[in-house]
Amino acid sequence: MYDVLIIGSGAAGLTLALSLPETIKIALLSKDVLTEGSTFYAQGGISAVLDKADSFESHISDTLNSGAGLCNEDVVRHVVKSGPKAIDWLLEVGVPFTREDNNIEGSAGLHLTREGGHSNRRVAHAADASGKAIETTLVEKIKSRENIEVFEHHISIDLITSRKLRQRENRCIGAYVLDRKKQKVSTFTSRFTILATGGASKVYLYTSNPDGSSGDGIAMGWRAGCRVANMEFMQFHPTCLYHPQAKSHLITEAVRGEGGKLLLPDGTRFMPKFDPRAELAPRDIVARTIDHEMKRLGIDSVFLDISHKPKDFILEHFPNIYAMCESFGYDMSKQPVPVVPAAHYTCGGIMVDNTGHTDIDGLYAIGETTFTGLHGANRMASNSLLECIVFGQATAKDIMQRYEKRPNPPEYEIPDWDESRVTDSDERVVINHNWDEIRHFMWDYVGIVRTTKRLQRARNRIEMLLSEIDEYYSNFRITSDLIELRNLAEVARLIIRSAQQRTESRGLHYTLDYPNADPALEKVNSILDPIKRSSSS
Ligand code: FAD
Ligand code: SIN
Repeated sequence: MYDVLIIGSGAAGLTLALSLPETIKIALLSKDVLTEGSTFYAQGGISAVLDKADSFESHISDTLNSGAGLCNEDVVRHVVKSGPKAIDWLLEVGVPFTREDNNIEGSAGLHLTREGGHSNRRVAHAADASGKAIETTLVEKIKSRENIEVFEHHISIDLITSRKLRQRENRCIGAYVLDRKKQKVSTFTSRFTILATGGASKVYLYTSNPDGSSGDGIAMGWRAGCRVANMEFMQFHPTCLYHPQAKSHLITEAVRGEGGKLLLPDGTRFMPKFDPRAELAPRDIVARTIDHEMKRLGIDSVFLDISHKPKDFILEHFPNIYAMCESFGYDMSKQPVPVVPAAHYTCGGIMVDNTGHTDIDGLYAIGETTFTGLHGANRMASNSLLECIVFGQATAKDIMQRYEKRPNPPEYEIPDWDESRVTDSDERVVINHNWDEIRHFMWDYVGIVRTTKRLQRARNRIEMLLSEIDEYYSNFRITSDLIELRNLAEVARLIIRSAQQRTESRGLHYTLDYPNADPALEKVNSILDPIKRSSSS
């Protein structure tokens, strides 16, 4: 029995693990190697008010603006005000942020970049590989902690709750976990369980996310009885490299922050016609405008141009992106680079309070898998890593308070994983086929521009596929592909249901049938409840 079971080793899970005292016995799971996850690939950086010319009020108002009337202002205030401390903590653990040439120690010496929606420079970064710097630094720290037992290549299948054991209270008491190398399912029991499993952008055909972003935590939490909110707000990043061989490589918004312009194939700049903030308008607006121009002109991509900047500047700020583009035959310092939008971030997720606690006793969720109220209808760039740090630390604090209040929680007899009625699959092609089908129709019907008809088509298909997947799940031995497919399908259904529920266009949810925001829906979140609690928005 562990004190704490953390499912996920991105910025959120690692921050939590490192913020708990060394007396706490922790199991830390990662379904791949410890470093794999969206955090590792983050480019732009992490937002915080660190410049004298900036202010908390400005960061708060930019976040509320991006969120298009759906942010919870209290949460926004709290997270923004915690920003400088979060950066101090990352500096303390040794994250090598890029510094200004001014010899000032601490956060005052950091170089700050700009991204869409931010009206000031407030993004701390490590060149264009900020996530890698954060993830690898935190992983190094974890290795020196004897209280943390690490389980790589372990994928959680489902949460174990006391209700499933026919108890009256619904408490999370651990999870069933598949060791992917040994193909063996074990029972992990814990007093506190945390979902830190990242987002679900893999539900779309084109995405900036790594393969593991299959929404496992959202699906597990939902099946266990947690409410889920605002799943219709899937964010599309405006600029991923377009190339037949490139698997949606992101080109950070900081390129536009440092002066990059978006162009049509004939070299015309188009963003100023659509928004006074032009290339630095919030992401939903830029992605939708690109989509509109691509459809209007029947073109495969638009172009991102920073070639007016000196090559030295580009190499200093964007060394990895420069090398990536060069490997596909584009020299950013000499020519515009073809770009398209791709699914990038899951703004909705499992509903949590200010401490990351869910609807179920003993179960927390942190990071991209959650709905905290911070992002509203459209997350502002670089607010996500900040949310991971702030909520990771808040959850650690809350766990310790509850831990001390209730030193001897009830113990339960938990049955082992039962494989007595399943056999090895005879038709693995079903998994690949269903996986591809979901990602295709989600892209076509539930993408940047939606309609009521498209959503209903997607709903019909997902209901059919889910019943097929359920049947497959009941009959065949579990594999990690099957676990992810089952989760991906569940999350697709949650996205479609939430999108069907929202009869307006707001932030990232844009439908031709209701092209305007409905003032009556301002502040109204799309809450889905698996056990039909009475809920309000
Ligand atoms: P992740 O970092 O995604 O980690 C998820 C973890 O959960 C992994 O360890 C994974 O193995 C594990 N896991 C998942 N399912 C299971 C399971 N069933 N069992 C066991 N383990 C499981 N945000 C910013 O703020 N600034 C940026 O500059 C930025 N750039 C980005 C660039 C890219 C290319 C991408 C993809 C995202 C970017 N984002 C950025 C978003 C940000 O990186 C993520 O929102 C954030 O890193 C999520 O952290 P996390 O800890 O919640 O999840
Ligand atoms: C980017 O660097 O453009 C991504 C930033 C983010 O998603 O927050």
